[in-house]
Amino acid sequence: MFSYRHAFHAGNHADVLKHTVLIATLQYLTEKDAALTVLDTHAGAGLYRLDGDYASTSGEAAEGILKLMAGDQSTLSPALADYVAMVQAFNQGAKTRVYPGSPFISQRLLRDQDKLKLFELHPTDMRALAGNVAQLEAGRQVAVLHEDGFEGVKKFLPPPARRALLLCDPSYEIKSDYAKVLDMVTDSLKRFATGTYAVWYPIIPRPEAHDLPRRLKTLATKAGKNWLHATLTVKSSKVTASATGEAKRPGLPASGMFLINPPYTLKALLKEALPQMVELLGQDQHATHTLESGG
Ligand SMILES: C[S@@+](CC[C@H](N)C(=O)[O-])C[C@H]1O[C@@H](n2cnc3c(N)ncnc32)[C@H](O)[C@@H]1O
Repeated sequence: MFSYRHAFHAGNHADVLKHTVLIATLQYLTEKDAALTVLDTHAGAGLYRLDGDYASTSGEAAEGILKLMAGDQSTLSPALADYVAMVQAFNQGAKTRVYPGSPFISQRLLRDQDKLKLFELHPTDMRALAGNVAQLEAGRQVAVLHEDGFEGVKKFLPPPARRALLLCDPSYEIKSDYAKVLDMVTDSLKRFATGTYAVWYPIIPRPEAHDLPRRLKTLATKAGKNWLHATLTVKSSKVTASATGEAKRPGLPASGMFLINPPYTLKALLKEALPQMVELLGQDQHATHTLESGG
C-alpha cells in the first residue's frame, strides 16, 4: 500500500507546477492581515535531499527544478521566478541540494497569526516530517498529524478566522484516492464554502484520473464557485519498446492543478508561467499546457 516515496519525485515537473501554484496562491492569501489556516492533506517528508539515495536513483529533479535553476533566471515569469527563489532560499552555495516540499514552502510564507496543519500517514515520512518540522521551532504554528488527511481535515473546517487554503496532493497509488478526493472536497465545501481548495492530480491513461477534473468542475459549478484548471504536459504518454523489446513506460508525462475559489490574480500569473514551463521542461513535441477557468 505504501510503496510511494515522494523523495523519488521531489522537484520533478509535477512539483514545479504544484509548488508554483501553491506559492502564488499563498502570496495572495497572506496579503490580508486576517489569520489563515493551511491544511496539507498529504504532506510528505517536508524536505528532500536532491543528492540523497532516493532522489538520485530517479533523478527526476534534473528534468524539473534543476533545469530552471540552470537557465537564465532573469527571463523567468514572476510566478516561476518566485518559485525558483523559494527553492534557492533553502540552499546555500551554487549547488541545489535541498528541495522543500509543500509543508516547508507553506511555512515559509506564513505570518505569526497563521496556522499549518500537516497530515501524513506513512510512518517513515511521518518520522522524517516530524523531525524536519521540529527543527523549524515553529511551536504551535505547525501541527504534524499522523492521520488520514482525507478524514482529518474535517475537524479544522471551518477555520476560526474563516480563511483557509486546503492543498490535496495524494500519491494516487490506490485507485480509491480519486473518489476520496472528490468526497473530501464535496464535504469540505459544505463545511466551509469560501475556502480555497487546490487539488493536484496525475494525467495518466486511467479513467479515474481523466474523470477527476471533470467531476471537480461539475462540483464547483453546481456550488456556484469560481474554479481554475491548469495542466502541464512534458512528454508523450505512449509506451514504447526498449532495445530488448520490453515495454518502456515513459514515467509521469503530465499533471494538473484544479482550484476552487482561486485567487483572482492566479490565472494571469499562470498564463505567463505555463508556456515557460513547457519551453523549459518539455521533453518532446507533445509538451503543452492548458489553462481554463469558470464559475
Ligand atoms: C505526493 S506526496 C506529498 C508531497 C507533498 N504534498 C509536497 O508537495 O511536498 C503524498 C504523500 O501522502 C502520503 N499519504 C498517502 N495516503 C495518505 C493519507 N490518506 N493521508 C495522509 N497522507 C497520506 C504518502 O505517504 C506521501 O508521503
